[in-house]
Amino acid sequence: MKRIVILISGRGSNMEAIVQRCAEQGWPAQVVAVIANRPQAGGLAWAAAQGIATAVVDHKTHASREAFDDALAEVIETHRPDLVVLAGFMRVLGTRFVQRFASRLLNIHPSLLPAFPGLHTHRRALEAGCKAVGATVHFVTPELDHGPIVMQSVVPVRPGDDEHSLAARVLATEHVIYPQAVHWFVEDKLKVADGIVTQTDGASQVLL
Ligand code: GAR
Repeated sequence: MKRIVILISGRGSNMEAIVQRCAEQGWPAQVVAVIANRPQAGGLAWAAAQGIATAVVDHKTHASREAFDDALAEVIETHRPDLVVLAGFMRVLGTRFVQRFASRLLNIHPSLLPAFPGLHTHRRALEAGCKAVGATVHFVTPELDHGPIVMQSVVPVRPGDDEHSLAARVLATEHVIYPQAVHWFVEDKLKVADGIVTQTDGASQVLL
């Protein structure tokens, strides 16, 4: 059984989707802990109600970014993870942290990377006149919202869309592609070569 630790900052709907799909589909994996950097993260209560271990490593109680990263890494390590999943985790993680969990650290970002790393992705996509937006699951590298792409979803922009309507439609696709990407990881079906991820069965890595 692969051991998954999920990091959240807020409501944790992607975390919920992964926990549910893992149980429903009987993956060779278990979500062993959900850790938040904010004590008020809504997803903590849901995870605890499922019987999953929860913890808070509050970034506000650490003097520096490195001290927070190290404290977080220590708590993660106690759960001996095979995979660490960033699911709406809104803190930038430093190079030392990323290298510690290299090749077993996934993130989801609500844009078609490499377009629009950072915040306010849907607003920026609308301002740029994009005709399609989406989400990206990727392995994490020290560069923000960057790294080998595992799977993407594509969502057409409709007349009258605003950032909220787009965010809602993209989020619905996140709940499909993130569990899919994690499932592939725990079944050892992802190969990374020269920064390119392939699914070893040749399954489609895009949700249209
Ligand atoms: C999701 O849309 C996720 O893609 C985004 O935060 C939201 C979290 O929702 N992540 C980022 O912007 C990371 N750069 P959730 O807490 O309901 O899963």
